Amino acid sequence: MTKYFFSQLIINWYHKHGRKNLPWQKNKTLYKIWISEIMLQQTQVKFVIPYFQKFMLYFPDINTLNQSTLDNILYVWSGLGYYNRAKNIHRSAKIITKEYNGIFPNQFINVIKLPGIGRSTAGAILSLSLNFHYPILDGNVKRILIRYYGIISSLTDKTTEKKLWNIIESITPIHHTGQFNQGMMDLGSLICTRIKPKCKFCPLNIKCIINIKKEWDHYPIKNTKKIYPKKTSYFIVIRYKNNFWLTKNTKKDIWKNLFCFPKFDDEKKALIWLKEKKININTSQKMISFTHKFSHFILYIQPIFIQLTNILNFHQYNIEGIWYDLKNPQYIGLPQPVQKILDIFKKDNV
Ligand code: ADE
Repeated sequence: MTKYFFSQLIINWYHKHGRKNLPWQKNKTLYKIWISEIMLQQTQVKFVIPYFQKFMLYFPDINTLNQSTLDNILYVWSGLGYYNRAKNIHRSAKIITKEYNGIFPNQFINVIKLPGIGRSTAGAILSLSLNFHYPILDGNVKRILIRYYGIISSLTDKTTEKKLWNIIESITPIHHTGQFNQGMMDLGSLICTRIKPKCKFCPLNIKCIINIKKEWDHYPIKNTKKIYPKKTSYFIVIRYKNNFWLTKNTKKDIWKNLFCFPKFDDEKKALIWLKEKKININTSQKMISFTHKFSHFILYIQPIFIQLTNILNFHQYNIEGIWYDLKNPQYIGLPQPVQKILDIFKKDNV
């Protein structure tokens, strides 16, 4: 199949079946496409949609973003994960304001210099918003190429990555680049899925090596199953009336810059801390434990609940933090497990 034919099949498929009504595709701007592409890194479309909509309500343009605090951006980002992305957006807004007069740059060399933007994301931003001729190579596109050409490789193999860039560079059409790129991503996530691809409905099926061999299960090669290390964290959930004590995570913490209950990696340390702060642990109560999965480890969380009846004592000990008001919450970033615990109290109608 010629390269021209390949791209034509994808563009035709895109017209019939591709995504055309996503919130960031309506009244397209570089700004909207930028935010959506950062959110879509490592996250599926269906999870991104409500976050994107909320983000646009709070930060409709770069100027608003530039004037807001990182805490406010993290507030909107809370639950979406990979929080560095929010920090990179905040840093980018500052750079764009200073260096590009508050207008998102439309030159590839300037876009790729912004924090959190690599070659594929820069290509996606410029091709999807302005139809500029740049290829993309995200996980979905890689999987299609590996299967179509029968390349024996895993998705993360660095030497194959170069080869795949060369292939996608040569296939990406000069005209309708945005439609082709969106079509490839949609085909990867809707048809050429990781498991059980729907080859019957794929426009490339006649020439796809893996469809011909019926071996899609082996392509891409699976990395040997990772065993994730397990870590433990004891969360001290201190409540006074409708307020919960939260401290801001430092640079060294997981969830840096987000607010969290005081946390300790073993129970002994937690009890010592409570004792130092003269908090009466007789009233402490273990809540139901749960796990939270990160990309590289699993965190076992044991919340310990303590109800304070007065905070005079507590404040004598100079603990830095805030009283998070459940009924009138502050605009700050909270990790998902913290939100999950607070939701338990919210449901109880405090
Ligand atoms: N993944 C990354 N960018 C995407 C997009 N624009 N549409 C669908 N999936 C994506």
